[in-house]
Amino acid sequence: MSLEKIKAGIRDVPDFPHPGIMFKDLTTVFKNGNDLQEIASMLYDKYKETGLTKIVGIESRGFITGPILAEKLGVGFVPVRKKGKLPADTIEESYSKEYGVDIIQIHKDALNADDVVLLHDDLLATGGTMKAAYNLVKKFGVKTVYVNCLVELDFLKGRDTLEEANEVYSLIHF
Ligand code: PRP
Ligand code: MG
Repeated sequence: MSLEKIKAGIRDVPDFPHPGIMFKDLTTVFKNGNDLQEIASMLYDKYKETGLTKIVGIESRGFITGPILAEKLGVGFVPVRKKGKLPADTIEESYSKEYGVDIIQIHKDALNADDVVLLHDDLLATGGTMKAAYNLVKKFGVKTVYVNCLVELDFLKGRDTLEEANEVYSLIHF
C-alpha cells in the first residue's frame, strides 16, 4: 500500500529537461520524512541478506538514497560521477541516455574483485547510464553486481541492457 502512496507522490514535470520528456520528479517524495524512511526500510529488507560490501551510486540523483541505504546496511558508498568531478585517477565509460550523450567515471581504487556491489540510481529509463556504470564496476573484476533503482520506466526496456547483472530490482514501475 505504501508503495502505491509513494508512487502517487512522484511529480510529473512535462518537457523537462527537454521537450517531449516527462520528468519523474522524486523530490516530492524525498521531502516527506515518512516516505524516505519507508524507501530506506524496504531497500534494507531487500538487501540485508545479500552480503553486499559496497553501494555504488550514480551522480547525481543516486546520491540521495544510495548513502542512506549504505549507512543502514553498514557498507561503504562509492560515487560514480560525471566526467571531470572526481579528483584522483579514474576509469570511464561513455553512454547515451534518454536524452543526450555523457561520460561517467569512477576512482581506479574504488572497488576490488571481492566486492559484492549494489549499483543504485533513482531511475532506470533506457538503461544507458546504468549499463555504463555496470561496465565500470565489471572492470574491477567484481563477480556479483545487483542493480537497484527507485523507479523504472518499463516501456523504455532499460533492464534488457542489464541481463548480465545478478538481479535488476526497482521499487516502482511506470
Ligand atoms: C537521469 C536519472 C538516471 C538516468 C536514467 O539522470 O537520474 O541517472 O537519467 O536515464 P537512462 O536510463 O536513459 O540512462 P541524469 O543524467 O538526467 O542526471 P542527474 O541524475 O544528475 O539529474
Ligand atoms: Mg541520474
